[in-house]
Amino acid sequence: MKLCMIGTGYVGLVSGVCFADLGNEVICVDNNINKIDLLKKGKIPIYEPGLSELVIKNYKNKRLTFSTNLKKSVKESDIIFICVGTPTKKGGGSADLSQIYNVSKEISSSINKFKIIITKSTVPVTTGDEIEKILSKRNNKKNFSVVSNPEFLREGEAIRDFIYPDRVVIGTNDKRSGRILKNLYSPLISKGASFLQTSRRAAELIKYASNAFLATKITFINEIANLCEKTGINVEDISIGMGLDKRIGSRFLRAGPAYGGSCFPKDTKAIISTADKFKTNLSVIKSVIKSNENRSKILLDRVNQILNKKIRNKKITFLGVTFKANTDDMRDSSSLKMIPYLSKKGAIIKYFDPTGYKNEFSKLKNVICKSSIKEAIQGSDLVIIHTEWNDFKSINFKNLVKSKKFIIYDMRNIYSSTKIKDQGFKYFSVGQ
Ligand code: UDX
Repeated sequence: MKLCMIGTGYVGLVSGVCFADLGNEVICVDNNINKIDLLKKGKIPIYEPGLSELVIKNYKNKRLTFSTNLKKSVKESDIIFICVGTPTKKGGGSADLSQIYNVSKEISSSINKFKIIITKSTVPVTTGDEIEKILSKRNNKKNFSVVSNPEFLREGEAIRDFIYPDRVVIGTNDKRSGRILKNLYSPLISKGASFLQTSRRAAELIKYASNAFLATKITFINEIANLCEKTGINVEDISIGMGLDKRIGSRFLRAGPAYGGSCFPKDTKAIISTADKFKTNLSVIKSVIKSNENRSKILLDRVNQILNKKIRNKKITFLGVTFKANTDDMRDSSSLKMIPYLSKKGAIIKYFDPTGYKNEFSKLKNVICKSSIKEAIQGSDLVIIHTEWNDFKSINFKNLVKSKKFIIYDMRNIYSSTKIKDQGFKYFSVGQ
C-alpha cells in the first residue's frame, strides 16, 4: 500500500514519517515549496523530539519522499490522508474548512483507481459527508471511500503517541476500507492499541468530545485549585485522592495556568459551533471555555498580590513561555496574556525558554530573552515557573544566584514548598 499525506504540518509529518518507519511507502505533500525543500535536506520545520532522526532515516532508505505535486502523488497512492489545518474561523468559533475542501477538489480530479480518502485533521461532524459530495461530482462512488481516522497526538510526545496509541479509531461503514485500515494499523494493534470501528460521524465526534473532555478535566481541577488556595488545602492531595478512583483517573488533573496549544482552545470552540448548528446547547463546554479564558487573570491577580500590588519596575523572570514542555509552540500559551499585561504595568521582564527567542514578545517594552536560566533569574524580584520543562525541575536556586533572594511563583507545582522555603526563598504555587 502506498500512502500519501497531504499537509506536512504537525499531524501529516509525524504520521507520515511514523507510517514510513513501520515499513510503508509514504509521499508527504505540501504546497509550500520552501518547506518541502527544507524537508528534503533533513531540516524539520517544527520542534518535536525524535522527529528529525526518523525523517532523515526514512528519507535515506527511500520509504519517505516529499513532493509539491498533489495530483501526481494522489494518483500514485492507495490511501490518502488529509492532514491540512482546520483553524478557527476569524470572528467566529467554527472551524475554517477551506483547506480541507480545496484539497478534496484537487483529489477529485486525480482518482484513477480505488482510493481511501481519510480525514486525519480534526474536522467537525458531517465534514466527511461534504467531502464525499465533492468527490462524487466527478467520480463513481465505487472508486473511493471517505473515512475519518482522527489523530490523538500530543505535541512533544507525538512519536510515542503514534507508536503506542491508546486506541485507533476508524470511522467508516465500508467493510473493505475498514479491513485495509485495520491491516495498516496492525503493527500498533498487535502492540496493544485498541481498535475501534464506528460510523464516520461518530469518529469525527470522538475526537472533539475527547479533547473537550480533557479540557474540562483541566479546567475543573484549576477551579478546585482556586478553592484550595482559599481554604489552606493542597490541590495536589485532591488530584491524587480523586485520581485514585478508577472512574476518574489521575491524568489531566494537574492544576496550572490556562490550557493552551493548537487543539484544546480551537476544538472546544468548534464543537460548540457544531452543536449550535444542530440546535444543541453544550453548556458544560461553554463554561469551560469561559473559565479557561479567565484563568490567566486569576493567576495575574495572584502575581499582583505576591508583589504587594507593586508591579511597576519589578524585575520578573519567566522560566518557559511555550504552552507546554517539549514544544516550541506558542499558540494560545498563557504567557501571551501574562507577559504583555505585566509589561504594560511597568514590569521589567526576562524570559528563558529552552526553544529560544519568541517573536511574539519582540514589540513589547522591557521584555528580554536570555540564553540561560542563570542569566534570566539573576537580579530578579519574582521568578515565575510557567512551563514544566525538565530543565526547570531540579534547579538549585540557592547555588545559582548567591546574592539576592527572589520570590518564586511555581505555576506548575514542580517543587516542594518546604524544600524551597528551607533554602530561604518565598515560594508560591498553584492551589496551595
Ligand atoms: C492535545 C491532546 O492531548 C491530543 O490528544 C490532541 O490530539 C491534540 O491536543 P496537546 O495540545 O499537544 O495535545 O497537549 P496536551 O498535553 O494535551 O496539553 C494541552 C494543555 O493542557 C497544555 O496547555 C497543558 O499544559 C495543559 N494541561 C494538561 C494541564 O494544565 N494540566 C494537565 O493535567 C494536563
